[in-house]
Amino acid sequence: MTYRIAVIGGDGIGPEVTAEALKVVRATGIDLATTDFDLGGARYLRDGEILSDATLDELRGFDAILLGAVGTPDVPPGVIERGLLLKMRFELDLYVNQRPFVGRDHDFVVIRENTEGPYAGEGGALRRGTQHEVATQGSVNTRMGVERCVRYAFELARSRPRRHLTLVHKTNVLTFAGDLWQRTFDEVAAEFSDVTTAYNHVDAACIYFVQDPQRYDVIVTDNLFGDILTDLGGAVSGGIGLASSANLNPARTGPSMFEPVHGSAPDIVGTGTADPTAAILSAALMLDFLGQSDAADRVRAACAEPVSGSTTHVGDTVAARVAG
Ligand code: IPM
Ligand code: MN
Repeated sequence: MTYRIAVIGGDGIGPEVTAEALKVVRATGIDLATTDFDLGGARYLRDGEILSDATLDELRGFDAILLGAVGTPDVPPGVIERGLLLKMRFELDLYVNQRPFVGRDHDFVVIRENTEGPYAGEGGALRRGTQHEVATQGSVNTRMGVERCVRYAFELARSRPRRHLTLVHKTNVLTFAGDLWQRTFDEVAAEFSDVTTAYNHVDAACIYFVQDPQRYDVIVTDNLFGDILTDLGGAVSGGIGLASSANLNPARTGPSMFEPVHGSAPDIVGTGTADPTAAILSAALMLDFLGQSDAADRVRAACAEPVSGSTTHVGDTVAARVAG
């Protein structure tokens, strides 16, 4: 079987790490037909395209999307993030953002809601630039959106040996959204009597991530809390250079998207020093989702022993181990 993969190398180190990830996937023997999409900040600066509806429709026809990194300092914040990355997450309904973290003493997965919360873009500005300026930024939480994410997290927890799921929120302050999350979590929990549960406020979770990460198995949380927590997760699990992620449409009404958590790192572009491991591990998540878990496990095993050296050296070494 040949998988049709849309490749968005993007900006900065994105294309460099994506090339290594594809090299490693090919070393598993799995057949990929890739199509490159020139998207990101550089493309936007060249001809103004961010992500047209026609390109989006083209992306819908693929089995998966592999993304490197998008964004450049030459474009104001938000333009590429909202217009490209978040547009794909929203329009392709990639409602689960799954980020695994494995360290010496811990092994947990964060399930971040990926289509709502403060990312929905509710709000606006009034009298901008004056002394009377007002800016509001709302958080959208729907029963449907929360429930499908929570349900996915329970299913994942059920499939893991520890069968433990922690809800992370800020129910003591965000009482409206928190109440919806907590009630939904409790109601779905009743259907999963084999999964034990816990609740942590997000500020406390930050302490536990650093001091006691072994308490976690699966975590489910809101979009913004999940964004912040997963950078911390990367920092306590060998660094952001190892942090992989999957933007999933578990209903499979379209392709899912796989990307390293790190950004485009314009300061090191072209130096050959970018660590491709996060991109390689993101490709492993893609293999899992395509039903190729054996190949995915081989890729992860090949990354277990650290490799030092240039971007291409790391890719070559991991690919050789996979093929070996
Ligand atoms: C991430 C990134 C994105 C996010 C940015 C680039 C919009 O930080 O994938 O974690 O905030 O979701
Ligand atoms: Mn982030």
